[in-house]
Amino acid sequence: MVKQSFAVFLGPPGAGKGTLAAALVKKYGCLHVATGDVFRRHVRDKTPLGERVASLMRAGEYVPDALTNAVVKEELDAIRARGPRGWVLLDGYPRTEDQARYLDTLVSVEAAILLTVPDPETIVARLAGRRVCPTCAAVYHVSAKPPRRPDACDADGSPLATRKDDAPEVVRARLETYAQTAAPVSSFYEKKGVLLRLDASAPTQDLVARVEPVFGAKA
Ligand code: AP5
Repeated sequence: MVKQSFAVFLGPPGAGKGTLAAALVKKYGCLHVATGDVFRRHVRDKTPLGERVASLMRAGEYVPDALTNAVVKEELDAIRARGPRGWVLLDGYPRTEDQARYLDTLVSVEAAILLTVPDPETIVARLAGRRVCPTCAAVYHVSAKPPRRPDACDADGSPLATRKDDAPEVVRARLETYAQTAAPVSSFYEKKGVLLRLDASAPTQDLVARVEPVFGAKA
């Protein structure tokens, strides 16, 4: 019987975690849980959680571990209750050592994909050109992945938007936050022998091919 397997996607803002995860969802039918998307939905819907996290996200800071862990537990409980099989991809979680240790109490992570970006200009160009669908969270890029019709989502036709936290001063803060917290998380998975480092400068289809031995083997 095919069981549920869990992978985490690590890397700086704009590395392409969500884009690679979406490609794997399309190719292998994986489930995708992105904590950033969950928080953005709460902000959009003005829930109590959304009201709490909005200012942190606008400032490029992390949501406290306890809140983030609770959100992830709720998402994983819902997935378990529905009972699907195959890969569950956690995108943008964990981002701190505490989160990694907490996740370890919930599930066994079989693969940690760390997207590295050697040239910081890559991140600047990717975030400056990113456009997102406010309805379904699909991600585009004005030149690398343009929508079929200008400024409209291919999936549902919604007008595309830029993310507020892609403003240059917030991107600087997000990169700084990432630099302060990332190393212990990758070490955590390196020690477990499940860390795979990928140079994220490559085109998405090359990255999909690089992870094929992981995700294709158990799709
Ligand atoms: P989140 O939404 O997770 O933001 P992030 O980690 O900063 O990552 P991004 O979504 O910006 O980038 P990505 O790596 O997914 O890149 P993408 O695929 O879009 O989190 C937002 C905020 O929520 C955080 O700042 C924090 O406040 C809070 N939060 C979330 N999780 C949290 C946690 N665990 N703990 C605490 N707080 C948390 O690609 C970017 C662009 O590049 C796109 O336009 C894409 O088309 C293009 N692109 C991607 N790959 C390629 C490629 N290979 N070649 C060419 N172009 C590419």
